[in-house]
Amino acid sequence: MTTTTTATAATRSQRLKAATHATHDVLDKRVMAGDIFASRDHFARFLRVQYRFHRDIDALYADPALAALLPGLAARRRWPQVEADLTALGQPLLPPAPGRLAAGAPLPEALGWLYVAEGSNLGGTLLYKWAHEKLGLDQGFGASHLAAHPEGAARHWREFTAALDAVVLSPAQEAAVIAAAEEAFRTVHGYVAEEFAGAAGR
Ligand code: HEM
Repeated sequence: MTTTTTATAATRSQRLKAATHATHDVLDKRVMAGDIFASRDHFARFLRVQYRFHRDIDALYADPALAALLPGLAARRRWPQVEADLTALGQPLLPPAPGRLAAGAPLPEALGWLYVAEGSNLGGTLLYKWAHEKLGLDQGFGASHLAAHPEGAARHWREFTAALDAVVLSPAQEAAVIAAAEEAFRTVHGYVAEEFAGAAGR
């Protein structure tokens, strides 16, 4: 579902897309192979993946240093919506556990993880459409975290990537952003493997 971008792409966000294209593709196929629209219970497995992923980065949205670089960051937070979606579907919340990244996390690490979270909104618009058509879920019930921003998912994404691309980083930090995005994708892969198999380890 992703399009290919060359590794020599001009902007940071384009380079991130190129670097994580393959891992996104595997994730996308793995999630769809999990038949998450077969029933609301199947969909809840995907919600648990999202719950764990967004819990990992939740503290970043309240980090003032990051917000200074990424305008409107706090409003991009989606963990509460994932929680509301689980509750709407009558699913128990997972036991409390700390997120992976704390406020004040190294800048490149934060940027890499936020790239993955924000980018996932693009595929999220498709998932929202299917959740609505196949399971009767919507913004007010069960699929709120997938609902597109009122100004449109594409525009909301471009605003994020413009800010992300404008952050000045050293070459070492640049490499660390990519490593962090890869780590974020690996983490989500791990959550999918566990939640889709019904395993614990939360
Ligand atoms: C939690 C799981 C997922 C994560 C973390 C994720 C992450 C991302 C990221 C980072 C991007 C932005 C790529 C860019 O830089 O433009 C993206 C785009 C996209 N994703 Fe996903 N994704 C996930 C699941 C899915 C699934 C299940 C689908 C299946 C329909 C999907 C379909 C897409 C599509 C269609 C795009 C936009 C097309 C593109 O420009 O590549 N994603 N996703």
